[in-house]
Amino acid sequence: MLRLPQLLLHATFAVGAWGQSYSNTTTYTNPILAKGGADPWVFRHHGWYYMTYTTNDDVTLLRSQVLTDWNNAESKALFTPPPGMNYSTDLWAPELHQLNGTWYVIFTADPRNDSPSPEVDMYCPYNCPAVHHRMYLLEGHGSDPWSATFVYKTQLDTFDQFAIDGTYFQHTSGLYHIYSCWTTQYTAWPANLCITKLENPWTVASPFSERQIISVPSLPWEKTPYGRAENDRLSSNEGPQQLTNSRTGQEFLVYSAARSDNRNYCLGLMELAPGGDPMNPSDWRKHQYPVFYQNPAESAYGVGHASFVKSPDGTEDWIVYHGMQDPTNGWSARTIRTQKFTWNDDGTPKFPKPGYGPYDAPSGQ
Ligand SMILES: *[C@@H]1O[C@H](CO)[C@@H](O)[C@H](O)[C@H]1NC(C)=O
Ligand SMILES: *[C@@H]1O[C@H](CO)[C@@H](O)[C@H](O)[C@H]1NC(C)=O
Ligand SMILES: *[C@@H]1O[C@H](CO)[C@@H](O)[C@H](O)[C@H]1NC(C)=O
Repeated sequence: MLRLPQLLLHATFAVGAWGQSYSNTTTYTNPILAKGGADPWVFRHHGWYYMTYTTNDDVTLLRSQVLTDWNNAESKALFTPPPGMNYSTDLWAPELHQLNGTWYVIFTADPRNDSPSPEVDMYCPYNCPAVHHRMYLLEGHGSDPWSATFVYKTQLDTFDQFAIDGTYFQHTSGLYHIYSCWTTQYTAWPANLCITKLENPWTVASPFSERQIISVPSLPWEKTPYGRAENDRLSSNEGPQQLTNSRTGQEFLVYSAARSDNRNYCLGLMELAPGGDPMNPSDWRKHQYPVFYQNPAESAYGVGHASFVKSPDGTEDWIVYHGMQDPTNGWSARTIRTQKFTWNDDGTPKFPKPGYGPYDAPSGQ
C-alpha cells in the first residue's frame, strides 16, 4: 500500500501585484507540481520563480510567485524544434542561464529518438541507444526571460560524443561546460562527468585532447545496482550543478549518481580545491558518501537531478529535485519536489532527508 502525498493543504490564496494568485500558507507539501516531471531547474528573477524541466518535445518555461506550488503556474513553450534535425527529439534537462546580460537555454536532444542504425550500433560493446545525444543552445535577448524571444543558436561542441545534462560552471578563471559523457564515442556506460573550457557561452575554447573527465562512477553507491562488482552497464554520473557557499566561497559540484530510473538515484558532491583549476581533475575532491539519497521511511526514492535557489527574502537555500514515491515504475514515477537545506560547519551543504512534509514554507513567501 502506497502512502499518498498530502496534496490538500489548508490553503489561502491572495492576489499578487501582477494579478497572479499565490498561496501564502505557512506550510506546503511535496510534490510541488502534481502532474509529475523530472530534471527541474529553477531560478529567481525580479520577484518571480521560473522553472524549466524535461518535457521531451519542447523547452517549456513555467513561472510562479511561489516556489512551493507550480500547479497554477503560467506556462510557455520557449522552443519547439522542427522535425528532422539532430535536436528534434528527447529534449531533456533544459537550464536557463543569464550570462553577461543574454539568456541561454542549454539542453540535451537527439535525432529520431536516437535509434542508432546497425552500422553505428555494431561499434558499441553492448547496446548504446543514446549514442547521438548531444548538447544544444537557445539564445534569448531582453532583460526579462518571460518576454524574451528564444531562437536556436548552435550545438555546444562535445567532440561528436555522447553528452547529456550539460550545465555552465562559472569560475574566476572563466566559463566552463560540465556534462555527462562517455569515455569515447561508442563505449556507452559508465557515464562520467566531463569538463571543457569555453571561449564564450556557445564556443568551446580547446580541442578534444584538453577535455577532462573529472568524475567516474567508481564508488558502490554510484553503480547500478548498488556495489555492482563488474560491468558498469548503466552506472552514471550526470545532472551536474554548480553550488557556491556564499559564506566561505567554496565551489561545489552537486551531481546525480547511479541510475535515474530506480530507487538508488542520489546526489554526490565534489569540491574544487581553493584556488584550484576546474580543468585539473586532481583539484576536484569527491566526497565518499552520497549527500542526498532515498528515504524509505517516507517512501521517497530515486531522488536526484537537483538545482538550487533562494527563498523570496534571500535568507534560505532551497534544493529543487525530482524523486519517486513508487520506485518500481521507473522514469514515469518521477515528481518534482523542494526542501530547505543548510550548511555544515566545514562549509559543505547539509541536505535534509527527502520527504513529503508538511514543511515550513520558504522565508518571505
Ligand atoms: C494570507 O492572505 C490572506 C488574504 O490576503 C490574509 O488575510 C492572511 O492574513 C494571509 N496570511 C498570512 C499568514 O500572511
Ligand atoms: C547530425 O549528426 C550526425 C552524427 O553525429 C553528424 O554527422 C551530422 O553532421 C549532424 N548534422 C548536422 C546538420 O549537424
Ligand atoms: C562576460 O564578458 C566578459 C568581457 O567580455 C568576459 O571576460 C566574461 O568571460 C564573460 N562572462 C561570461 C559568463 O560569458
